[in-house]
Order: sequence, then structure tokens, then C-alpha cells
Amino acid sequence: MNLDMNLLQILAVLFLPKAWCQSSSSGGGVVETKNITLPAGSRAVLPCHSPSMVWTRDQLKDRQRVVHWDIVHSSPEYSGERLLDMSPGARQRVYNGFNKGRISIPDSAFTDGNFSLVINNVVTSDKGLYTCNLHHHYCQIHESIQIQLNVTKSVRKEKRYWDGEKTVFVVLLGSSVVLPCVNRRALWRDGLQEDQQQVAHWDFQPPGVRPNKADRLVDLYASGERRDYGPLFAQSKMSVAEDAFTFGDFSLSISDLKPADKGLYSCHLHHHYCGLHERRIFRLTVTPPLLREPTTSPRVFLNDELEPKTERVSTDKDNPRVVNVFLPEQRGYFVQHLGYFLATFLLLAFIVFAVIVLTRRRKKRGLEYETGRSVG
Ligand SMILES: *[C@@H]1O[C@H](CO)[C@@H](O)[C@H](O)[C@H]1NC(C)=O
Ligand SMILES: *[C@@H]1O[C@H](CO)[C@@H](O)[C@H](O)[C@H]1NC(C)=O
Ligand SMILES: *[C@@H]1O[C@H](CO)[C@@H](O)[C@H](O)[C@H]1NC(C)=O
Repeated sequence: MNLDMNLLQILAVLFLPKAWCQSSSSGGGVVETKNITLPAGSRAVLPCHSPSMVWTRDQLKDRQRVVHWDIVHSSPEYSGERLLDMSPGARQRVYNGFNKGRISIPDSAFTDGNFSLVINNVVTSDKGLYTCNLHHHYCQIHESIQIQLNVTKSVRKEKRYWDGEKTVFVVLLGSSVVLPCVNRRALWRDGLQEDQQQVAHWDFQPPGVRPNKADRLVDLYASGERRDYGPLFAQSKMSVAEDAFTFGDFSLSISDLKPADKGLYSCHLHHHYCGLHERRIFRLTVTPPLLREPTTSPRVFLNDELEPKTERVSTDKDNPRVVNVFLPEQRGYFVQHLGYFLATFLLLAFIVFAVIVLTRRRKKRGLEYETGRSVG
């Protein structure tokens, strides 16, 4: 049971990053729905993990954001090149010696969100496809824009336009140009208090109750504050790890399941700083208690159709989880049986050996007795 849950949790974490960018734009997106069926009296763990909710990871704030400008030349041959990069609190690094002092981005980039590339004294080899890349490692957000730069010798041909995919700049040889890359979202700039902005909460919706009437079970804040509603947490009937924000594990444990625990549970994670809003929904069904000893793990049913609001979690991703969960147990079972077989075999061999030795000794003694008598 524990093994199953851990594996599921690890896999859930692995599949998360792809969802981050999308969920940041779509608002409270459902990233997962699952049917869980467990016998009464057992303990349920509803997994809810998100590494991007771990606010302590952003203690090195400056190293977690980076901007870099790259270029792809199409002539004389196709080649890509890093032009410059910069992190908050570090000097910008220009890669090519020829470009030093000629190209730059404003030093205030991470304060005002202006990451535009300034190119002075444009030369023919500046022609190419430029990309401005912004990476926020802590929030797992990556943004990039492309700009085509062409160089001309004729003032009449100078222009800039949008070709349907990107901006195209046709620039006069020897002039200066600013390739714009501006992102004023707060998370790319300094001075935002980030640690008060995360909250996780669990809701419960008994069967037949409308979603907007769901009961709030618990609120958890990154500051460590926690608000329980009703007596369930005080009675240890339900629990969420004390260090949930340290590890990003907001899984809800429900002990001693009763038929009344049946219903929809939802885990909501909000990271306002990163623009992360995720919802995981579990339909919990409680079956009659198991009478046999609980050696077989309760099965977890995965479901995508529960509330088809997003198409993010696909069955292809879900199916391998079940396979992964059950394989190790089968192997353990096999090894155990092999052990029994070997032990029985050895015991039999030992008995046969003992019998042979004993009968030989008897015969020998009998012989000695006879020879003894003949001598005497
Ligand atoms: C961004 O910085 C460049 C270079 O300093 C400047 O020319 C441009 O006007 C700035 N853009 C905005 C929107 O502030
Ligand atoms: C700019 O250069 C690209 C690549 O050589 C070319 O395909 C495009 O037509 C040029 N655009 C202009 C306006 O010169
Ligand atoms: C999950 O439960 C719902 C409602 O009972 C049902 O319609 C759906 O088929 C179930 N999915 C799975 C995979 O068991």
C-alpha cells in the first residue's frame, strides 16, 4: 500500500513540469482526476504533490532566473550561437570577443523587465534569427520570443514588420538597433515578497452535494499557518504532513475509513508568485471491510472522465503507473516461493544423506562384531 502510493507520488511529480506553464495561464486547472476504492477500516492517502510549491527553494533567488539571447545564422552556413546571458546580481556575459562593447542588454533588466538587445554598429554578419529566452527555474516557467534581423546597405529598404510569426527588422549597415524583449510580469522583476503567496487547501464534497457547496477541510499557508475546519484534524482522523511546504507534499491521509467518508476530495494548490493554480480531484469509494488478512493491496482506479475540464492527464501516462506498482510485488512473491522450495529440497537431501550414513555405520559395526567374534 505504502509502496504503491510512493510510486504514484513519484510519477505524479515526474509528469508535473509539463503542466506548469499551461496551468499558469489557464487559472485553476484540473491536472488530475482519480477514482480510489478502499475497504472500510483502512487508511487512504490521497496524493497531492507539487515541487513548485516548495518556497524554500528560492532562497538563491538570483540564480534561479536567467535571460539569454541566441542567434541562428542561415548563411554562409546554418549555425547557432549564444550571444549573451545574464542573471540578477551578476554581470552580463557576452560570448564573442567581437561583440564585447557592441551588444548589450540594459543592466536594469531584472528590475524593470526590459531585456531588449541593443546592437551598435550593425555588421552584415548580424543577420539571423534572434531569440530572447527567459527562464525562471524555480517556477519552471520558460518564455521566448523570436526576431529576424536583416541588414541592408540602402536607407530605402530599412523597415520593420510582423510576418505572421515574428517581427522582422531590416536595418541599415553601421546603424544601431534595439531588438525588443520586454516582460513586466512581477516574477521576472525583483522586490516581490514571494513567501506569503502560497496556499494549499483540501475540500470535501459528499455525494449529492453541489461543487460550490463543498466543505473546506483545511487551509495551509507557506508561512506555516494552518486552519482546520471541523474536528477531523484535531481527532487525527485526517492529516497532512507538518512539513508539507518543505517537500511540496500536500497528500491527505484519512484513517479508519467509514462509509460516510465517501465522496469527492479536491486538493487546490495556489502559488500566486509563479501563477500556478492546480486542482486534483479524487472520487473515494468505501467498500465493506476486508475479512481476510490485508496482504493484497487495495486497488487504485485511475480515471480521466470524472470531470473532463482539461485534457492534460492522458491515459497513456496513467497506465504505466499501475504496471509499475504491481511488478515489484510479483517478483517478491516469486523469490519467496523459490526460497521455500530450496529449503524443502535441502532438508530432504539432508535426511537422505543421514539415512545412508547411518545404515553404512550399522553394516560396518556388524562386520566388526563378526570379525571380533571369529578372532575371539
Ligand atoms: C528597453 O531598453 C531599450 C534600451 O535601453 C530602450 O531603447 C527601450 O525604449 C526600452 N523599452 C521599453 C519598453 O522601456
Ligand atoms: C530576411 O532574410 C531572410 C533569410 O535570408 C529572408 O528569407 C527574408 O526574405 C529577408 N527579409 C527581408 C525583408 O529582407
Ligand atoms: C470513476 O467513477 C465514475 C463515477 O462512479 C465512473 O463513471 C467512472 O467510470 C469511473 N472510472 C473508472 C476508471 O473506474
